[in-house]
Amino acid sequence: MKTLRLTNVKDKKVLVRLDLDLPMIDGAYDATRLVHGIPTLIYLFKNGAKSVRVIGHVGRPKGKVVRKFSMKPIAKLLYLELLKDKAFKGKTEKDVAAWLEVAENLRFDAREESGNVKYAKELIKGFDLYVFDAFGVSHRNHTSVIFIPEYLPTVTGIQFYKEITILKKLLKKPKLPFVFILGGGKAETKIPLIDPISERVSVIIAGGKIPLEMNYEDHPNRKLIIGELREDKKDLSDAAMEQFERFIVQAETIVWNGPMGMYEDPEARKGTAYIADCVARTRDFKIIGGGDTEAAVTALGIDQEKAFTHVSTGGGAMLEYLAKGTLPFLESLKHSQMEF
Ligand code: 3PG
Ligand code: MG
Repeated sequence: MKTLRLTNVKDKKVLVRLDLDLPMIDGAYDATRLVHGIPTLIYLFKNGAKSVRVIGHVGRPKGKVVRKFSMKPIAKLLYLELLKDKAFKGKTEKDVAAWLEVAENLRFDAREESGNVKYAKELIKGFDLYVFDAFGVSHRNHTSVIFIPEYLPTVTGIQFYKEITILKKLLKKPKLPFVFILGGGKAETKIPLIDPISERVSVIIAGGKIPLEMNYEDHPNRKLIIGELREDKKDLSDAAMEQFERFIVQAETIVWNGPMGMYEDPEARKGTAYIADCVARTRDFKIIGGGDTEAAVTALGIDQEKAFTHVSTGGGAMLEYLAKGTLPFLESLKHSQMEF
């Protein structure tokens, strides 16, 4: 893999794809994804990159300019976060902005999600290097994910490399039993990955939207256990929480993506809190992932460093990597024939 740390960036104009799709919880941004993008930017600054343009997306505005999905408030957070680093000591927000610009939401243009060569060429104009550090979106066939690497020399950013290094361990002989906990929304993306993931794991226990949107009879899998929901369907039932706990305490490897209930509603957080506590108490190789899962666990006040081996910034991407052993971005990087 072509990585940033092995690349000469001096005097280069660098285009950086970050994962700035920050989850909102109780009306405030959870900045974890943004914070994970900082080491790449600091590296570029310290190693003399001439200028940087950060590109990213927020939400799903479907090709329209939607104010609530603007990148502006997130750009502000990014500048403040950079100023905390000693590399920028004595500098002002204006100084940082003169070196690093944050572009508006890529998805305000429908060509980002449709995948478009012309859009890729517009985005790369004037740049020498592309640094991809948006693990959370690396499973999408979008312009900034799979087309830009074909036209601009591309390397992986620091967070992306870290994610792949850790997740790779799950593909090679993980310790058994391997318990996979699946929940959250975007059931349409996740349901098709259940069968391939089941080949790698001992059991999949499912909550969140999965029990609502999946019919076991249409999709039987002997390793899949769909959790029972409580009466209003917003969270797991108490019986399901206890059933899930019995699997979790026996596990040697755990991967968890997606809250167990409609986490946005404070009345529907018990299942997620219960499962988070069970996972946090075990001593295994434990990976949790996804913007919402991470935000939910943060809101619960769990010490992530102590409780989990790794907290991945991408949920869907983590699932796809586990299911297929590769990602659209990685494939595109392989095919990128560009010389440096
Ligand atoms: C995420 O939130 O998982 C990533 O930002 C990807 O977003 P998407 O599911 O809208 O492509
Ligand atoms: Mg998300």
